Amino acid sequence: MNAVLVASNRGPVSFTLSEDGALTMRRGGGGLVSGLSEVAKEMDILWICAALSDGDRSAVRLAPGERLDHAGYDTGALRMLDIPPAVFHRAYNAVANSTLWFINHLLYNTPTAPQFDTRFRREWESYQTYNAAFALALAEEAGPGARVMIQDYHLTLAPVMLRGERPDLRIAHFSHTPWAPPEYFSLLPDEVAVEVLSGILGADHAGFLTERWASAFMDCCEVVLGADVDRAGRTVTHDGRTTRIGVHALGVDGEALWARAGEPDVESHMVALREQVGDSKLIVRIDRTELSKNIVRGLTAYREFLAAHPEWHGRVVHLAFAYPSRHDLPEYREYTAAVQRCAKEIEDQFATDDWDPLILNVHDDYPRSLAAYRLADVLLVNPIRDGMNLVAKEGPILSPRSALVLSREAGAAAELGADALLVNPYDVCGTADALHEALMMPEEERLRRTERLRAAATALPPSAWFSEQLTALDT
Ligand code: G6P
Repeated sequence: MNAVLVASNRGPVSFTLSEDGALTMRRGGGGLVSGLSEVAKEMDILWICAALSDGDRSAVRLAPGERLDHAGYDTGALRMLDIPPAVFHRAYNAVANSTLWFINHLLYNTPTAPQFDTRFRREWESYQTYNAAFALALAEEAGPGARVMIQDYHLTLAPVMLRGERPDLRIAHFSHTPWAPPEYFSLLPDEVAVEVLSGILGADHAGFLTERWASAFMDCCEVVLGADVDRAGRTVTHDGRTTRIGVHALGVDGEALWARAGEPDVESHMVALREQVGDSKLIVRIDRTELSKNIVRGLTAYREFLAAHPEWHGRVVHLAFAYPSRHDLPEYREYTAAVQRCAKEIEDQFATDDWDPLILNVHDDYPRSLAAYRLADVLLVNPIRDGMNLVAKEGPILSPRSALVLSREAGAAAELGADALLVNPYDVCGTADALHEALMMPEEERLRRTERLRAAATALPPSAWFSEQLTALDT
């Protein structure tokens, strides 16, 4: 039986199935997986995740007890739940990604969405079933008094469900996203809003990435549930139970990242990129193609910058890496098309025979991203709203000379704001000005700022971030 368990929708690996039936294993993407992968392996933690694709399902169906490590994969202890595809699809795409993610990132175009109709009620039932499947698997695998660390908005109901089955466990929930203010959170149907909050309050400890998100959660508990909130003591009491609220600002393992970025595959991408862009200055962005990442406004800001500063034509290139994400959702497919359209307009307006102002890449390539970080003069991170944003933390580690243009709505702004150029993500002109200011920043100032950014980015590497939460469960 296991003493420490982690549960999350996405696991550390995913599989793709080729036409001849061969399975290829890849590392999963996003902040949650980056944070937890090494920790889980080092600490010998059992990770429970969902099968996300046909590839995952094929792999897990051959694994004894859904344990991929028992099927010979080098994943660390990993159980992947084979939840029926229709249930999974409704829970993951319709509820988690199209509803809870939209709520917490304030993404709705409110004149037309959301609409919580009968169909949504059915989707919500699937979300309950999906959460119950996790609670059951955790209850089966956890040793007496074990500590269980449940992750993110996919699994808001699992804490209270698990507590019902196994009152002996110590349960933590961690949100990797922002949390919405009560007036926006209350767009959810009342009974759903109550269920989400009381689901998380089933945990002993509810963790957030910044004070701002923790405090929004406490506000929701007070307004929506009428819970008793002690802000100074950081506790929420509801239905006779008290949940402690913690803030744990996930950072980066600087040494490991630096070591990975020094490997030959990254070096050869650096050579190739340099050949492509010559000695131009580089503005780099690296994101999932994600609505909240604000890529279209980022590109528009670059266009405004080029229009306002002809002196930079031929001397600057924007490398925009926007990797595929959540393509089952039409909004994301449309968004990817909008990003591509906007990039094309910039090309049409400014490109010359010997200058390509923008290189947009929409294919996932980790070593190539690391190469881009290392070459960056400016790193642009301008999300509408973001739980933390680890790109903002990785950049300064890999590029000692790069200036950081950072959205004030990213969780990372709380720690990095003083040494970044902060922008309002909706203000395209302001962002264009910040790009210019970043390019003009004197070398000495860049170095000084990067040194402090790097210290802040590595203050709480994943292992310490995780240990902090385990300790918080013990006290
Ligand atoms: C964010 C979420 C994670 C999620 C990641 C990638 O970082 O907080 O829970 O895994 O995005 O999204 P995906 O839907 O591809 O898992």
